[in-house]
Amino acid sequence: MKKGLAKDLPQSYEGWEAYARSSIDDERYRYIAGGAGYDEGGRANVESFRKWRLVPRVLRDVKERDSSISLFGGTAAAPILLAPVRGLGYVRREGDFAAAKVATELGVPLIVSTFATAPIESIAQTMGNGLRWFQLYPGKDPEIMKSLVRRAETSGYSALVVTVDKADNYPHYQGPRGYDFEKYGTEVYYSDPVFRSKLGGDPESKRDAAFRLWKEIRLAPGISADELSLILTWSKLPVLVKGILHPDDARLAEELGAAGIVVSNHGGRSLDGDVGSLDALVSVRETVGKDFPVFVDGGVRSGVDVMKALALGANGVLVGKAYLYGLGAAGEEGLRSVLRSLIGEFESAMRICGAKKVSDIGRSMVTKAWMHD
Ligand SMILES: Cc1cc2nc3c(=O)[nH]c(=O)nc-3n(C[C@H](O)[C@H](O)[C@H](O)COP(=O)(O)O)c2cc1C
Repeated sequence: MKKGLAKDLPQSYEGWEAYARSSIDDERYRYIAGGAGYDEGGRANVESFRKWRLVPRVLRDVKERDSSISLFGGTAAAPILLAPVRGLGYVRREGDFAAAKVATELGVPLIVSTFATAPIESIAQTMGNGLRWFQLYPGKDPEIMKSLVRRAETSGYSALVVTVDKADNYPHYQGPRGYDFEKYGTEVYYSDPVFRSKLGGDPESKRDAAFRLWKEIRLAPGISADELSLILTWSKLPVLVKGILHPDDARLAEELGAAGIVVSNHGGRSLDGDVGSLDALVSVRETVGKDFPVFVDGGVRSGVDVMKALALGANGVLVGKAYLYGLGAAGEEGLRSVLRSLIGEFESAMRICGAKKVSDIGRSMVTKAWMHD
């Protein structure tokens, strides 16, 4: 049993997945685990980490270590962020607040989804000075989107993450059929003053009309470069673009003035058969500027995976399913345990690879597995 980890709780991704599978109902489990189509994208993410091996660097003084990173003026305890997840209140009752609380306690930034299950102001209140970003899905109503951005800025979110890889149709989606869209994920829109004025009343008393309006406008089929440029003018917040896989798109986002990108295939939930995000990271990193912040998500299951991503040039990673199984199975305690394990493993990998601080991590610490098999 590792120090600081709660007794009897699983200590690995596989353990937490099994715990979640056996302790939460099947619909909720499938909501977390589901991918688009055959989930080739989800599998590709995991496989892409297996293609690389760490090369320890020894004979270095690593008594003092610092795993923290700075992020647009804030500090994170480690280069690990909680990925935006819709419907956290479905995964676990009060899930948004549990995530907000534990993230703040451990110094892990939380990215709050457009389809969070609580108004973004209430989540912010739970966090005090805890680092939080707001994830914006391009919708069909720019005035409401602009209002969401304003609210995020006012309630202390320090960056925006614009997700560009999700269209509102996933034929052959393997997730649950039982996710109740009316019950979970409308809260951010329903609490918005511009949404409410367009509805002409409050969503509680105009339930059917509110849900119809929300369904109609919540997701645009895509977003153009011009539309992204417009979003960049809406606030002073740095804007990261999430859902980039092609190096030319990464370069375009940089040229348009994005503050960074998240290389991601949405955890395999958007387009079946797409490239694993760690594979995409390598060519993206070679294409964009050396100092342009590049984050990656999809398939991060351990602190060693975090180390591999950073050695391949990521500035940080987002975790999705890894934290959702912990949160779903054991609430706050589960999430805390998962995050402590990830950070602890990452710090241990730093030590063995001879890195005193995160900026010491570099390409010489990783090699292609197939060169040695
Ligand atoms: C249940 C679930 C809900 C998600 N909801 C969102 C969302 O609202 N916005 C978004 O940008 N990404 C969303 N994602 C994608 C994650 O932010 C992230 O890209 C992905 O989970 C990373 O892959 P991993 O689960 O293998 O760590 C969701 C993922 C899951 C598993």
